[in-house]
Parts: sequence; C-alpha cells; structure tokens
Amino acid sequence: MSDGANMSLITGAGQGIGKETAKRLARQGISVGLLDINLENAKLVEEEIRNDGGSAIAVACDVGSRKSVENALALVESHFGATPLLLVNNAGVGGPFHRVDEVSDEEWEWIMNTNLRSVFLFTRYLLPKMKQAGYGRIVNIASVQGQFGASRSSTYVASKHGMIGYTKAIAAEWGHEGITCNAICPGYVDTAMGIKSPEITDYFRKVLEKTPVKRIGLPTEIAAMAAFLVGPESGYINGATITMDGGITAHVGIT
Ligand SMILES: NC(=O)c1ccc[n+]([C@@H]2O[C@H](COP(=O)([O-])OP(=O)(O)OC[C@H]3O[C@@H](n4cnc5c(N)ncnc54)[C@H](O)[C@@H]3O)[C@@H](O)[C@H]2O)c1
Repeated sequence: MSDGANMSLITGAGQGIGKETAKRLARQGISVGLLDINLENAKLVEEEIRNDGGSAIAVACDVGSRKSVENALALVESHFGATPLLLVNNAGVGGPFHRVDEVSDEEWEWIMNTNLRSVFLFTRYLLPKMKQAGYGRIVNIASVQGQFGASRSSTYVASKHGMIGYTKAIAAEWGHEGITCNAICPGYVDTAMGIKSPEITDYFRKVLEKTPVKRIGLPTEIAAMAAFLVGPESGYINGATITMDGGITAHVGIT
C-alpha cells in the first residue's frame, strides 16, 4: 500500500475536534497535515505532536478558497513526500444565529464555502490520487443539524445536510476504488463552537434537558470515531452517517 495510507489531512486542526483528532492519529503513528485558517493555533498543535514524538506539519489554509486549498495540499505533499490518503473534513463555522430573512449574502457564502464547498475542493483534488493508490478514507464532520432543522441556523443546517448528501454520493461513486466516505454527526460538543460559546448558553440548557445521557460530548470522543473511520478496519462502512449525540435525535417524542 502507498505511504500515503499512513498520512492524513485534517482541516480545522488548530482547536476543538480537529485538534483532538490530529493528536489521536499522531499517537497511532499517522503523519498529520494540520490545516487551519488560524496558523498560530495549528503551529501550537504541531509543536505538541512533535514533542510527543509524532510527525506533523501546520499549514495556513482557508478551506473555502480553491487557491488556498491547492497551495496547502502542495505544501503538505512536498513535506511528507506523498499524497495523504486519509482526509478528515472538519473545519466549520456556525453562527451568526440569524433568521433566514436576516441572513446576508456574505454570511451565506462564508458558511457554505467553509462547511460545504471545502469538502468539494478537498475531494476534487484528492479522489483521483486516492483512485491511483487504490485506497482512501474520507471522514466528514457534519452535525445533527444535518439531520434535522433548527431555528436561526438555516445556512448551517443547509450546509450540514449538503455535507451528508455529498458523503453518500462519494460513497456510491468511489467505493469500488477502495475509497470510503462517511459522515459523523456530533450533537453538542465541548469546544469553542459548542458549549463554550457564551452567545447560546440558554439554548444549551434546553439541549441538555433533551439529551438522554444528560451531558454534552467530548472532542476526544468524536476524535476516536474519526480515527476508527480513517483506519484500515472500517472498510465495510461506506456512506454511513454516524450520529454521536447522547441520544438527542432518538428522543424526538413528547415523553
Ligand atoms: N462543537 C459542536 O458542538 C459541534 C457539533 C456538531 C458539529 N460540529 C462540527 O465539528 C467541526 C469542528 O467544530 P469544533 O467544535 O471543533 O469548532 P471550533 O470552532 O473549536 O474549531 C473549528 C476550527 O476550524 C477552523 N476554521 C474555521 N474556518 C476555517 C477556514 N475557512 N479554513 C480553515 N480552517 C477554518 C478554526 O480556525 C478552528 O480551528 C465543525 O465542522 C462543526 O460544524 C461541532
């Protein structure tokens, strides 16, 4: 198998779920390309991984911009000497939390470019190379808001539904090439975007009431699932939407 099967790309790796996924993969001996719009944070993660004996490179990247994505991928490829065949599309943005009639074109484009166009840009570049290698693993970090609607989050909801649809389409189209593509749908996770976001504290109180396990998720729990899905033992999971929400989506009834 190509060297690239032991190399990964993680977008939004400077903090939160992306950071924990990067650290976990590095501990498993996988080289990690840490792509983030916030290079300072990504460099701190790089340092942490290297101090731990792992292999990592931090690269500045705006995942919604084709030029930025192509530049970042070229840098990672030349640093590692091969194309990474493990991809975690994790970078994402949520708010501002506006009603549809308050959403500006700029907000729509920013959220859709970061959350959804990015997945197209990365897969467009990497799928032919994965095909050549006969192997590839793609994990898209979507959201439970890709499975149901929510007020004041229409663009985010649309982007995450799109991500899940795109995951299934890639799975159907590329599975016979040794490439799998799956989505993880976290519920509410303890990161800057999740519970730590002060703007939506009341909302989270309501979320906890509706969460059967009565807690929010940890970024390390999402990272563990992402690590399994990019691993060699996950080959029969393809096009799946794996919900990790403490039972929120199971609990839609009145009681
Ligand atoms: N935290 C949650 O509750 C939760 C729930 C469901 C889904 N998710 C999804 O998980 C993913 C990670 O979220 P998180 O909670 O770790 O968020 P976070 O805000 O802690 O981290 C997101 C990372 O993405 C980076 N980023 C943002 N825009 C970027 C861009 N244009 N180019 C490159 N990097 C960019 C940020 O700099 C940051 O490092 C997101 O896709 C999010 O939608 C999170």
